[in-house]
Amino acid sequence: MQFYIDSADINEIKEANKRGWVDGVTTNPTLVAKSGRPHHEVITDICAEVDGYVSAEVLSMDAEGMVKEGHELAKIKENVVVKIPMCEEGLIAVKRLASDGIKTNVTLVFSPLQALMVGKAGATLCSPFVGRLDDISHDGMDLISQTMQIYQNYDMDTKVLVASIRHPIHILESALIGADVVTVPYKVLKGLTHHPLTDKGIAQFMKDGEKFAK
Ligand code: E4P
Repeated sequence: MQFYIDSADINEIKEANKRGWVDGVTTNPTLVAKSGRPHHEVITDICAEVDGYVSAEVLSMDAEGMVKEGHELAKIKENVVVKIPMCEEGLIAVKRLASDGIKTNVTLVFSPLQALMVGKAGATLCSPFVGRLDDISHDGMDLISQTMQIYQNYDMDTKVLVASIRHPIHILESALIGADVVTVPYKVLKGLTHHPLTDKGIAQFMKDGEKFAK
């Protein structure tokens, strides 16, 4: 399973990359706004740090505008993936960008049938959101198993990127289901390496080590 970091903060992306946790990056308008920097500048900096896919989202709501923005973003570097919101115009844009050889990631997917339409349009990545479904009392992980099942049934090339991850259990369940990619906030990534028994064990070994160390 690939790990992407869900962030537009170049410093945390660099820190995560140093630790080998970054197979790719996803950004969205909220994350870019939080960085306080121009969109193209943020994506250019991320692409200089990361070789894997870097998703950059369009702001147009019509297919023509999305395709135009998509071409501009794709010029930044060959690993840019154009992030398109799930809607009819979005799927038109995905199909056109795919035929121009540009990679796409369809975002804000909340149902398995939306995911099926994303696969049929020929997107590179499909981003079902688990946390936002959990927030409204739907089981987000059901959406992941159903999407995986549908893509396997029809041998679709689109990869499932689990988005809106809130905690480690989302990642564990994604790995058990066999999802292709998870995109994870930095603070959740950091939590994955820790265990209280590891910390306790290290403290004990250090203490005992003092008994024979010079
Ligand atoms: C994914 O590409 C999105 O940027 C992200 O996972 C959204 O997460 P949120 O629901 O925590 O905003």
